[in-house]
Amino acid sequence: MGRYSVPGFLRDQFTTLPPIEALSKDLTGKTIIVTGANVGLGLEAARHFASMNPGRLILGCRSAKSAEEAVKDIQTTTGCKTVVFWPLDLSSFKSVTDFVDRFEREGGGRLDILVQNAGIARREYVQTEDGYESTLETNHLSSALLTILLLPILSKTESRVVVVSSELHLFVKNLEEAKSPQIIAKLSDKAHCTPSVMRQRYNVSKALNVFFVKALAAHLPPDTLITVDAVTPGFCHSKLTREAKGVVGVLVAILKALIARTTEAGSRNLVYAALSGTQAEMQGKYLNKCQVYEESDYILSAEGQKIQDRLWDETISILSEKDSRVRSVTAEILKAA
Ligand SMILES: NC(=O)c1ccc[n+]([C@@H]2O[C@H](COP(=O)([O-])OP(=O)(O)OC[C@H]3O[C@@H](n4cnc5c(N)ncnc54)[C@H](OP(=O)(O)O)[C@@H]3O)[C@@H](O)[C@H]2O)c1
Repeated sequence: MGRYSVPGFLRDQFTTLPPIEALSKDLTGKTIIVTGANVGLGLEAARHFASMNPGRLILGCRSAKSAEEAVKDIQTTTGCKTVVFWPLDLSSFKSVTDFVDRFEREGGGRLDILVQNAGIARREYVQTEDGYESTLETNHLSSALLTILLLPILSKTESRVVVVSSELHLFVKNLEEAKSPQIIAKLSDKAHCTPSVMRQRYNVSKALNVFFVKALAAHLPPDTLITVDAVTPGFCHSKLTREAKGVVGVLVAILKALIARTTEAGSRNLVYAALSGTQAEMQGKYLNKCQVYEESDYILSAEGQKIQDRLWDETISILSEKDSRVRSVTAEILKAA
């Protein structure tokens, strides 16, 4: 399905996903990072990884108390002794680079699975300390920075990068901001971020996730050990819509009660994206219902290809200003498009 349809969405929601036993692998000696793993889908995905005997499982989270509780909860329910919490706030580039610095020092030299799960769905314009609109920075820019800075370590072993997107990316049929010379600057421009623009912001950020995955896959050399994919968990119970108020809040609550997957079931999509399939099957793909799925028609169009290239160049340029390692990583690990 390259475009959104209500029957298609309902069919997806009521599809039974494979049980976790069918997706499990032995993770002995492997290192896994899951971002935003203190609650919701990240927590349930981390719990699944914890039950597979991981060498090291790092929960990258911004809320220390909740993350410490998540560590204890995972230890109690799975017996996993190798799960730890490391601070990571994706609304701050400094926090991302601090996390990477620590991983370079203490990570043990290997990273097998990086699940970029943390995300927000905010309808108000909020500016981060770095000067970017907060959903744009959290869901796209910081997630891209974390991935790029970790590529040198990811490239040492057969590894997987999973970016958690959403089927709501299908609603983005045209990126209005592409009329501006700089798409990302326009997306972050406070005057541009009117309530009607912000209503679409979450969907746009999830389209940026798919664009990023496809662009990164296109820039990885043919002999790379890294596989990158995007995944939607489907519509699930979680705290994602915590900021939805008024009529929207009521509608979301009713929809959740009627058709949302359990958080655990949704998290199996993340586990599938991290552990299943071969590189040839998964590289640069968008996944839904534990299978490769079609991205939006817009992303797959000739126009979408141009936007993908522009977004990649702009993202690399912005992130290079934040951390000089971005340029060296792109030069050493990635190829020109
Ligand atoms: N639930 C759905 O129906 C659905 C559907 C499609 C896609 N998704 C995607 O699934 C992913 C997980 O969402 P969820 O549904 O599990 O929502 P959730 O329960 O709200 O969990 C989101 C996680 O992201 C973390 N996070 C938010 N901002 C962060 C920041 N600045 N730095 C670090 N972590 C941050 C949250 O931490 P705090 O607890 O500290 O806020 C939380 O751990 C998201 O990428 C979302 O877009 C969800």
